[in-house]
Amino acid sequence: MPAITVTRKLPQAVEDRLLSLFDDVRLNPSDTPLDAAALRQAMEHSDGVLGTVTDRFEASLFDGVRARIVANFAVGVNNIDLEAAKAAGVAVTNTPDVLTDATADTALMLMLMVLRRAGESAALLREGRWEGFSPTLLLGASPQGKTLGIVGYGRIGQAMAQRGAALGMEILFHNRSRVANPAVGRQAASLAEVMERADVVSLHLPGGGANAGAISAEMLALMRPGTALINTARGDVVDEPALVAACASGRISAGLDVFAAEPTVPAAFLDMPNVVLMPHIGSATEETRTAMGMLAVDNLDAFFAGRTCPARVV
Ligand code: DGY
Repeated sequence: MPAITVTRKLPQAVEDRLLSLFDDVRLNPSDTPLDAAALRQAMEHSDGVLGTVTDRFEASLFDGVRARIVANFAVGVNNIDLEAAKAAGVAVTNTPDVLTDATADTALMLMLMVLRRAGESAALLREGRWEGFSPTLLLGASPQGKTLGIVGYGRIGQAMAQRGAALGMEILFHNRSRVANPAVGRQAASLAEVMERADVVSLHLPGGGANAGAISAEMLALMRPGTALINTARGDVVDEPALVAACASGRISAGLDVFAAEPTVPAAFLDMPNVVLMPHIGSATEETRTAMGMLAVDNLDAFFAGRTCPARVV
């Protein structure tokens, strides 16, 4: 029977299912993230590793190891060197679809928090600084009639587009390939067009590879004063120092769930009233995290039973 190492604590129902399917399951009840040596150990001494975004599966981890599959608990796989996995004949799976709504909900939440200055409002009240209703206190911006720019028109980008359209926003999206008959919105001619025209830009493109730094200082400079950037994708798709500078100047606002070097968050962001920060909770609902775990287990189960994995990347 295959030995499975699980790198982080998972929802109980998921761990119970793993224990019912496999005889040798090595759980991580303390949820302590694995360092490089511990991850190497897991790859060397198990047949399958159920990992996630905090595990960096670098090329060297695929060298001469026992593991035949990495089942990633995430839709994003930028934490895994896919080329090295492929070369070593190690399968890689992910967890698409089940987190689409939760992640789009988080993007919507961040957008509304930024537009309606929710962080500042909550802080004012909690810190005892509220002196009562005022017609001009903490005025935000209405989404209705504004343009929502979507960068990356995949599943989550489309779900965010639908949410924006339901609020009465115009949708303008950028996608690498041409989208025939988009259900919502209009495809822009270029990324630059979205950055220039949108009142809110929401990022939904995968991290790593060619997308690293796609939202460059040059692209950020195209955003008009008073506009906002929302990122629930990956921190590395944005030039983070350039974003810090753009927000520090007050030119744009931001709602961020992801950062380039998590869990490090650029210190300058912490004091900015125009920036809403979340600790990578895009898919963090009970239902969604359980569904993600179940899909990761489905992938492992299918792989070791010789069936087609429901969500195989490599
Ligand atoms: C993912 O799935 O890639 C997220 O970042 C974690 O939900």
